[in-house]
Amino acid sequence: MCGIVGYTGMKNAAQVLLEGLSNLEYRGYDSAGISVFENNALYTVKAKGRLADLGKKLESHVLTSGCGIGHTRWATHGEPSDTNAHPHITTKLSLVHNGIIENYNQVKEFLQGKGYVFESQTDTETAAKLIDYCYQGDPEAAIREATKILEGAYAFCILFADHPGTIYCLRKDSPLIVALGEGENFVASDMPAILRFTRNYYLLEEGEIACVTPEKVTVTGPDGSPIEKKVQVASWNVEQAQKGGFDHFMIKEIYEQPTAIHSTMHPRLGHDGLPDFSASDIPGDLFQNVTKLNIIACGTAMHAGMLGKALMEKLARLPVEVDMASEFRYRDPILTQGQMALVISQSGETADSLAALRLCKQAGVPVIAIVNVAGSSIAREADYCIYTYAGPEIAVASTKAYSVQINLMYMLAVSCALQRGTMTEEAARAYLAELYATIDRVRQTLDLADTIKEYAQGLKEVSDLFFIGRGIDYALALEGSLKLKEVSYIHSEAYAAGELKHGPIALISNNVPVIAMATQRDLLPKMISNIKEVKARGGHVLLITGEDYEVDLSCCDQIMRLPIGDDAFGPMLGVIVLQMLAYFASIARGCDVDKPRNLAKSVTVE
Ligand code: M6R
Repeated sequence: MCGIVGYTGMKNAAQVLLEGLSNLEYRGYDSAGISVFENNALYTVKAKGRLADLGKKLESHVLTSGCGIGHTRWATHGEPSDTNAHPHITTKLSLVHNGIIENYNQVKEFLQGKGYVFESQTDTETAAKLIDYCYQGDPEAAIREATKILEGAYAFCILFADHPGTIYCLRKDSPLIVALGEGENFVASDMPAILRFTRNYYLLEEGEIACVTPEKVTVTGPDGSPIEKKVQVASWNVEQAQKGGFDHFMIKEIYEQPTAIHSTMHPRLGHDGLPDFSASDIPGDLFQNVTKLNIIACGTAMHAGMLGKALMEKLARLPVEVDMASEFRYRDPILTQGQMALVISQSGETADSLAALRLCKQAGVPVIAIVNVAGSSIAREADYCIYTYAGPEIAVASTKAYSVQINLMYMLAVSCALQRGTMTEEAARAYLAELYATIDRVRQTLDLADTIKEYAQGLKEVSDLFFIGRGIDYALALEGSLKLKEVSYIHSEAYAAGELKHGPIALISNNVPVIAMATQRDLLPKMISNIKEVKARGGHVLLITGEDYEVDLSCCDQIMRLPIGDDAFGPMLGVIVLQMLAYFASIARGCDVDKPRNLAKSVTVE
């Protein structure tokens, strides 16, 4: 996720910016840049890669400026490169941006009509040029004018060439603080950037614009009226601040899911309420004549693919095969004309997934990728790429990446169904409206944390556990089991509930807990029968189901109720419980939750 730092005062701005940005490195980035006022003119240096690369470029310049803005970029629109790095500059201003401008294509077309020429592939450049277009000497007026047009989420920090020493900043749906020093002031997207210099800060609210000079900070509301801000005092240390006040990255990332899902879904939801992948250059008829889809991935991403299979087959009646990437290329897969492959990967660097992608391409099968890390190998080598906008995932256990992957699976399945004529536009609109409404239900599910924690405490001494489910709940059970294994080291198995009686039920006893996922209304009676089979063998059952589902309570020992609306989206809530369960079990057992033993975040070896 991108990071912003701004400084104005007596110190060397370039050094303060580099130090501030280095404290935001944990957020992940692929390029960086700064703009400073040097001899009253704007001077900008940008570099693809690490801050050290930017530092090297800066070595050849003696910078003495006391005012500047800096940025670390986590690529979303456009690959990591010097040109796409921030700041984006015009003759009048320099701008850095966190967030996503959703209507950048329309704004860009408008500006091109006015003679503006674009150099980068970013959404941010349109914001810089739009403010430039609106600028007639009053920075705040220009910003206000431009933000009437811009849609999406943004935190901006801007230097105007004719206002040396002053930083203008604002935010909408993306955090930004103004931090207060003695004869100097700072702007930052995140607290760790400024903690070494000061602990006093203002939190900017939606639509507020701050004008920051070394001596003072003035804040005005969206209508231009002055606002009295209350100084807040940060009590976190740098490490606590990097985790946003959470104890671990895993739990922070679990809580980031509503935002991640919104960021991924909203730009792909057209004004007509239908899926729109045109900004990712996906042809509108891509799936029309496809005869079979091969979904290929590893671990959590593969579990997202399993859900994708169920959705594609149900909504679009398209036959789908799901493969573990590590098995795919050694099973001599049948790849023929008409097939398409879908590779899913958070990192975009998983060696097995990349090799499978190459095999498909060699066989002439077009590959579409769903990837979180922009510019990664899988994103570059696929024929088509749709990015998830989860932001960097730091904990080894994948959480928010899964949620955005399944969100895209729902959207792609609908798009595919429309292309193949198996769903009406009206039905598609209703389906996606309900998917969008699920974001709020995900938020409500996060409120179950205390109940989940209490249950997880009981797993402290457990050595084996079963997850069971039917249909898409089986795919969910697999993900719950993987999560629990990797972070708590409890041995667990996931089984299709109806399969249990064909062998594994022999392992059920009163010290083997069973977690039964039942988010699907029509499968509930069958699930209850399977749960009764477990209960009859002394198993202790936790049933996770919908809040209004009719359940004979004697069939289970404990029950957790989820705010499920349309049960098609039950897995989006169920997975939150399973992730939290794994997290709290890991904590209860004293495990290193963010860096589980033997595991790496990105598996770049076969
Ligand atoms: O980066 P990728 O999505 O390609 O990674 C795939 C798996 O290695 C990954 O999902 C792994 O299973 C996680 N540790 C799960 O939490």
